[in-house]
Amino acid sequence: GFMDQMLTRQATEEKLTSLFGGKRCLVVSGDSDEDETANYAMGQTVNEILQALLPEGHNIIAVMGGTTMAAVAQSLSSELSTSRDLMFVPARGGIGERVDVQANNICAQMANRTKGEHRALYVPEHVSEKTYDPLLREPAVQEVISMIKQSNAVIHSIGQAIPMAQRRSMRQSAIDLLKKKGAVGEAFGYFFNENGEIIQKLSRIGLQLEDLVSMKCVVAVAGGTSKGHAIAAYMKLAPSQTYLITDQGAANVILKG
Ligand code: BG6
Repeated sequence: GFMDQMLTRQATEEKLTSLFGGKRCLVVSGDSDEDETANYAMGQTVNEILQALLPEGHNIIAVMGGTTMAAVAQSLSSELSTSRDLMFVPARGGIGERVDVQANNICAQMANRTKGEHRALYVPEHVSEKTYDPLLREPAVQEVISMIKQSNAVIHSIGQAIPMAQRRSMRQSAIDLLKKKGAVGEAFGYFFNENGEIIQKLSRIGLQLEDLVSMKCVVAVAGGTSKGHAIAAYMKLAPSQTYLITDQGAANVILKG
């Protein structure tokens, strides 16, 4: 029954938290590989965490892209804007995503849901440095980059290394190298192995992993059996204040080891 489910969930959360050295973990039921509603449930949990952690007044929230984040956006509520004004910005420059799940787009959806504001970062993906550098110096681009640097919260997902590399249309030689180095996961444009050691970083503008350390509100949200190992690996390198929001499908894989 319901009580059993609650107890199981609580036990799972406690096991994960102790496995990850005290990093707080919250688990929703289901498996987002099979059931999209688990994604929305994780989104609701993100909403609760933000409600609890964001200070009153002005907040700049940096967000990443992806299908998980798109579902999270749909679960945010306008109550977050009571006594706060929210500004959503993409955490990194475009890192090769489908338009509908790009961070710029997720920001717009989150702003829409919460009655907040958003800014987009328009820097194209596959251009030479000759084109890229002057673009970065544009005042409009600089303005968004400085907002990103001032952000006080970040929400991001975690992916499997090779599927993410493919989704970003990385060169086959780069993908082979990731395989050779044992890449299991990707978050934030960083690829890492099962020990949580970074093996490659997509050199893009915006928030860096080291910027997360001083941020009070860091939320990682990822679920599904298929992401279990990637999540476990990421949590080894995640800053200690990270909240992990996941689902039972991923948790089962993580706890099996
Ligand atoms: C990407 C992020 O947009 O989405 C990655 O840049 C993340 O850091 C990925 O790993 C996750 O995607 P999805 O679709 O599995 O939620």
